[in-house]
Amino acid sequence: MLILPKFKAPSKGNSPIDRIGVLTSGGDAPGMNAAIRAVVRTAVANQVEVVGIKRGFRGLLENDIELMSPASVANVLQRGGTILKTDRCPEFLEKSARKRALDLLAREQIQGLVVIGGDGSFRGARALERESKHGLQVVGVPGTIDNDIPGTDDTIGFDTATNTALDAIDRIRDTASSHDRTFVIEVMGHATGFIAVQVGLAGGAESIVVPEIKYRPRDLVKAIERGKRRGKTSSIIVVAEGPKVGLAHQVAQDLTRAGHPPRVCILGHIQRGGTPTAHDRVLASAFGATAVHALLAGKTSGMIGVERGVVSFKRFEEIFRGKRALDQNWFQLAEILAT
Ligand code: F6P
Repeated sequence: MLILPKFKAPSKGNSPIDRIGVLTSGGDAPGMNAAIRAVVRTAVANQVEVVGIKRGFRGLLENDIELMSPASVANVLQRGGTILKTDRCPEFLEKSARKRALDLLAREQIQGLVVIGGDGSFRGARALERESKHGLQVVGVPGTIDNDIPGTDDTIGFDTATNTALDAIDRIRDTASSHDRTFVIEVMGHATGFIAVQVGLAGGAESIVVPEIKYRPRDLVKAIERGKRRGKTSSIIVVAEGPKVGLAHQVAQDLTRAGHPPRVCILGHIQRGGTPTAHDRVLASAFGATAVHALLAGKTSGMIGVERGVVSFKRFEEIFRGKRALDQNWFQLAEILAT
């Protein structure tokens, strides 16, 4: 189990915060509902009102908000997606839009904001906090299937997404081995290979292509031919989508040119849906509750995360300076195990 932090909270009824907002932003991730539920129920248990903001920061621009209660988050733990809906809201990059959002937050007397999303959403949250004249406090909760946020070993949705992708890979392996075929399977991950390495390892992929490591078609062809020489009749290549979806097709062309035409399967948004795993529900519950405790203890402009099993609060400053690096040891291990 995770180790939960103990923040020094002001004595009961003495916190300057008695109303907070919660929103989900960016790509949805399974487990976000468990985080919303934890925020609402922890806040209410501490005599704090919670306002749900719809479709991410857009709800602040369009005054699309609603008061939440413990009952409004009943029966949501097992549901994928986000009951608050989400949006990428590019308008929020403009100061004038953030000013409108701050006006609404001030009018509604919302003193604390929990933003569940990725680092793009946290940048928007930090800008809001900096430009606020009414002392808005903001805390981020990492929710993205990509697991690419610095300052945390894990993000809400990663475990579920990788298990969903793995289930698909196991199924594809059945048909691949029946037909003696090679399959190139593209997984999500924007510009990072965390999903690819996790499912590649768990699914016994013959090769994994990730944006962090230069893709060399010749090495891939060599790996396939090595496998064939030692009797492998089918192969699975897992490819991280990278910044542009469709890299799997380029890999397939390279293999075809080398005389090993594969089938291609792009798993796409299937990975974002579905019921969250127990791991993601517990992680999200811990993050959501800790975010409220952090706000009540006066913490702001930072993110809840988990490092070596300990749930922590880290300043956005520190997070934005870093880059979450893929541990190359895992990648090498996957290669050795596939030989
Ligand atoms: O950020 C999560 C993610 O699922 C990425 O892995 C993927 O590249 C992107 O979102 C897809 O975004 P959209 O749903 O907007 O196409």
